[in-house]
Amino acid sequence: MRVSIFGTGYVGLVTGTCLAEVGHEVICVDIDQAKVDGLKRGEVSIFEPGLAPMVRANHDAGRLHFTTDPVRAIAHAEVVFIAVGTPPDEDGSADLQYVLAVARTIGQHLNQPTLVVDKSTVPVGTADKVRATIADELARRGAGIDFTVVSNPEFLKEGDAVNDFMRPDRIIIGTDDAEASEKMRRLYAPFVRSRERFVVMDVRSAELTKYAANAMLATKISFMNEIATIAERVGADVEMVRQGIGSDPRIGWQFIYPGAGYGGSCFPKDVQALARTAHQHGLQPRLLDAVEAVNERQKEHLFELVQRHYGDTLAGKTFALWGLAFKPNTDDMRAAPSRRLLEQLWAAGAQVRAFDPEASSEAQRIFGERSDLVLCDSEYDALEGADALILITEWKQFRSPDFGRIAGALTDSVIFDGRNLYDPDELEEAGIAYYGIGRGR
Ligand code: UGA
Repeated sequence: MRVSIFGTGYVGLVTGTCLAEVGHEVICVDIDQAKVDGLKRGEVSIFEPGLAPMVRANHDAGRLHFTTDPVRAIAHAEVVFIAVGTPPDEDGSADLQYVLAVARTIGQHLNQPTLVVDKSTVPVGTADKVRATIADELARRGAGIDFTVVSNPEFLKEGDAVNDFMRPDRIIIGTDDAEASEKMRRLYAPFVRSRERFVVMDVRSAELTKYAANAMLATKISFMNEIATIAERVGADVEMVRQGIGSDPRIGWQFIYPGAGYGGSCFPKDVQALARTAHQHGLQPRLLDAVEAVNERQKEHLFELVQRHYGDTLAGKTFALWGLAFKPNTDDMRAAPSRRLLEQLWAAGAQVRAFDPEASSEAQRIFGERSDLVLCDSEYDALEGADALILITEWKQFRSPDFGRIAGALTDSVIFDGRNLYDPDELEEAGIAYYGIGRGR
């Protein structure tokens, strides 16, 4: 099928590339000329395992094109995806200006019957706005062209996005139009492993499903972080508790890892936006508000542990920081807990030597040159001249470090483990003081 995708961010680029991979003819549009030029040369600016070679292969095969020309893209397509950003407004609601700008462009240039697909994460009711915007533009031109707006939320995880797209848990299609749902079924047929994974529903339910999924996952994390706080206070180990509850299939093993708080471009933004929608409808979303409040508090917990150890004497101390990205396998630092921690350490007068396998240049971009941040070339380099080690992102290569070497390098031989990667007993044997999350034993 002939497909065009507006937006070459995570979602747009992964969607376009994976659709091309199974044989669809795809044009990706972006307003950023430099980005489009880079993509044509096979340069992918985000770090996403497996994506860059797939982009190059499909581009070389002539199935995947990049352009800044929306007119060409609209003329090409029988299905047009809207996959542009929906950043949070000042009040936490999703800012729809980019989505609606694309809708206007589609309305201005549409000349053949087209299926318009909302892929961006958008509040309930957005498909109606997109439909009205396109219809207005068509009316202005006096053009009577058939189009349908479908909601198709995405469930990709950064770091595993290609895999998530190629083998989805489920594909959600929001539409009341039988022809549109049939077309979407054909588009996605190569990815659907069983019928029950392709779920068709009304548009508003599809829009809400996306928020409900992310809010549920964020709730699990905040819940575990709250249990961790209790465990710490009552002298229990939340890691034991996690193992004790995860085997119950009703609870499950996933997303019950306590830590430094959830970050990224999705959970913080989506929990807030859903809460905002509820408020706008006169509701008090107590649970969602609490999920966010717990997470905000959790992002400060590592610093509290540092203070517990050092008291108020952080000025002049140097901390090695392992990890900057909001989670492993990405260079993304949006809403990363590391950012709050860095600000707190700096405000207290401490220096930081940080290492992240992928996010150093992103940190450089965010913070620029500053005397209290050194971006190091390896995890062991970060330890040089440091008093203590703080781990905040659980990259695989941090899992089994040489504790003897760590103890030898650190002045104070203490580790603050923001992801509970290490065994407190093992560290005690190595002569290292240990602080984890919710490990009050
Ligand atoms: C999340 C969802 O998992 C995807 O399904 C969804 O499509 C995506 O948002 C989106 O809306 O676009 P992502 O933000 O890439 O994906 O990352 P996750 O792997 O979900 O992790 C989010 C945060 O939760 C990270 O900071 C991670 O460290 C934290 N986390 C995760 C925990 O603290 N504990 C856990 O047990 C799991």
